[in-house]
Amino acid sequence: MNQRRLAFLFLVILLACGPLASQELPALIPKPSKISMGKGSFTFDTATAFVVPAHSAQLSELAAMAAEEVHSITGFTPAIRRDKQPLAGKNVVVLRIAPALVRLGAEGYALEVGQPVILIEAPTAAGVWFGLQTFLQLLPPGAAGAPFAVPVLKIEDRPRFAWRGMHLDVCRHFFPVAFVKKYIDEIAMYKMNTFHWHLTDDQGWRIEIKRYPKLTAIGAWRSGTMVGAYSLQQFDSVRYGGFYTQNEVKEVVAYARKRHVTVVPEIEMPGHSLAALASYPELSCTGGPFEVAKGWGVFPDVFCPKETTVTFLQNILTEVCALFPGKYIHIGGDECPKDRWKTCPNCQALMKKLRLKNENQLQSYFVRRIEKFLNKKGKQMIGWDEILEGGLAPNAAVMSWRGTAGGIAAAKQRHKVVMSPGSHCYFDHYQGEPAFEPLAIGGYTTVDKVYSYEPIPAELKRSKTKYILGAQGNVWTEYIPNEQQVEYMAMPRMAALAEVLWSPKKGRDYADFQERLIRHFALLDKKQVNYSRSIFQVKLAMKPPPSKTGALVELSSPFGGTGIHYSLDGSPASPSSPQYAGPLPVIASSLLKFCYVDRGSVRGRVAEQAITVTKSTGKSIKLKTPPHENYPGDGAFTLVDGIRGDLTRYGKNWIGFWGPDLEAVIDLDRTEAFSRVSLDVFDGEGSWIYPPISIEVFVSNDGERFTSVKKLSADEIRRQAGSIRMDVGPQSARYVKVYAQNAGTIQAGKQGAGSASWLFVDEIMIE
Ligand code: ACM
Ligand code: ZN
Repeated sequence: MNQRRLAFLFLVILLACGPLASQELPALIPKPSKISMGKGSFTFDTATAFVVPAHSAQLSELAAMAAEEVHSITGFTPAIRRDKQPLAGKNVVVLRIAPALVRLGAEGYALEVGQPVILIEAPTAAGVWFGLQTFLQLLPPGAAGAPFAVPVLKIEDRPRFAWRGMHLDVCRHFFPVAFVKKYIDEIAMYKMNTFHWHLTDDQGWRIEIKRYPKLTAIGAWRSGTMVGAYSLQQFDSVRYGGFYTQNEVKEVVAYARKRHVTVVPEIEMPGHSLAALASYPELSCTGGPFEVAKGWGVFPDVFCPKETTVTFLQNILTEVCALFPGKYIHIGGDECPKDRWKTCPNCQALMKKLRLKNENQLQSYFVRRIEKFLNKKGKQMIGWDEILEGGLAPNAAVMSWRGTAGGIAAAKQRHKVVMSPGSHCYFDHYQGEPAFEPLAIGGYTTVDKVYSYEPIPAELKRSKTKYILGAQGNVWTEYIPNEQQVEYMAMPRMAALAEVLWSPKKGRDYADFQERLIRHFALLDKKQVNYSRSIFQVKLAMKPPPSKTGALVELSSPFGGTGIHYSLDGSPASPSSPQYAGPLPVIASSLLKFCYVDRGSVRGRVAEQAITVTKSTGKSIKLKTPPHENYPGDGAFTLVDGIRGDLTRYGKNWIGFWGPDLEAVIDLDRTEAFSRVSLDVFDGEGSWIYPPISIEVFVSNDGERFTSVKKLSADEIRRQAGSIRMDVGPQSARYVKVYAQNAGTIQAGKQGAGSASWLFVDEIMIE
């Protein structure tokens, strides 16, 4: 027998004996620490009941919640029986507390699917709850009341980290109690245990405080909201707001508690406090008046850390501590500009009296006062990593968001840390190619990037790793105006982070996770969760065509090339459209539609991309000055690649110059007749991007001596609002030069005053 036959035979034997021979592993997220599949199955039908010990009200309540879930997933409503000898039953799901299983810790559980009995046991009720979450993921969504099989298996499971958190900002946009509960359900489904509720910020104060009614009478409402990209600085004038009454807060806390989720409230101080200052301007350095913010960003007016402010915040925290039974209270602490403190007589006198060297120390003094107060109430303070600046309060925990350095520094000082670096844990970032995603704040944090996150920093000594409590995903809602969009941004990145936090590090494997995730989507569909399908998004790249004519489009999929289908003739892209088989030449302007098809169905979104083909498309182009390294696009080729930049947001289809002018020369390859030259320019004051103050077009036949054929003034450019068309009269030339003059130093009173302007340009079109 030759080597290959021998290897083949060996493989056959391996498959016959190995776990693959018994059953497919269920699509569990997060993946359990230990799972072994058996043979056969438990049949779930109308007679299947939950059984709990006769005396346990707590397990009865868990069983009742699980029964409701079973009903919504499968159509069956199992009965709940209290029984002195639960294990003696048949066709039952038994829940019990097993003190002997101490090895499973405070949240671990054991789950065994056998033939007459499914047993879920744990040393704590929390463990039974997490076991039930696993059980629910074993059920087939869409069983619709018909009996179904649950595969025989054994699981022993416990989490890797204690803090498995998700955050929600309800200030930039407000979400009602019913949605907050659904969000908590989603957190719980993935065995996460912490909900960080961001309740106060510049754009709204969202929690009723009995002692200070103006916080919600005034601070919960703003007179308009920023619309579209920050760079555009556009606002509506619709009154917007809302808040939670203390009764509603209690309802949410109780709801979460039943699901073993702890709610951590965040009351922002001393920065991000405009909504509070609009209500009580006397707590600022200047006295105001202020308005609740309509736009996003960081604002210079913050709490003045004087005695009256400290008393005010302590009174608020007294009410907050009474509402939230958890150990931690989050006090924000991030992004507090010190401008006002530097010129405030109160602040400066206080610094002198306390012998503080700088304003960071003043912030530290203030945070320590608050910490002492919280500690006296039996609470632990947690804050964003800026609370390290000027010296950390003695018992504070740190939430590391500006990368991981803050978390590392805090752990080295033996302080507890929750990791939430923007790079992996900010779920307000784009999760797919921005051009095919709804407007987001920026960034690029894909599901596999989240999954690749390791909360324990490599540079931390082993003796200090115990200070890393876990990690958290943050959902800031500046660009998330509604509930559907919250789910879209959070899911499935929340699932990826949940696995990072629960499952053993060893054995983490993205391909395996993704395969389970795709099967798990059926459960999210059943639960009507608006998760993102961006993992299926086909990627598009423009290539310089070897023929130097028209556009050349390259499509690619993370699942391989064979599932990509496209259309160029305006018809919808579908499984019956042409299959992509290599770079597509596009020789006339067209709307390209494309999608990913798996087993006959479109997965994810059908993307559309307008391709604009003119005489300049695909031609050689040279720039006198290269674009800035932060906005390089694809270099000069970006200007003739066939894709026009989006005038409502800048991205990789634009190239940016910070200071320099644009000077581009296109070689049309031969003498061509044309009468119009067009150029796209971006106008984005909020990002210091200003249109050019003049544009001039030149032509040449030798590429050396150029003749000016058109010049536009600043006014003419403004009037054309981004898409600049220049009628140059009948021309016949081989070379075309476009010169756009940078707006120069930004004038006083405008965003970015005193800095150089950015100039963003895209497609040069010659017709
Ligand atoms: C933050 O994102 N400002 C904590
Ligand atoms: Zn002050």
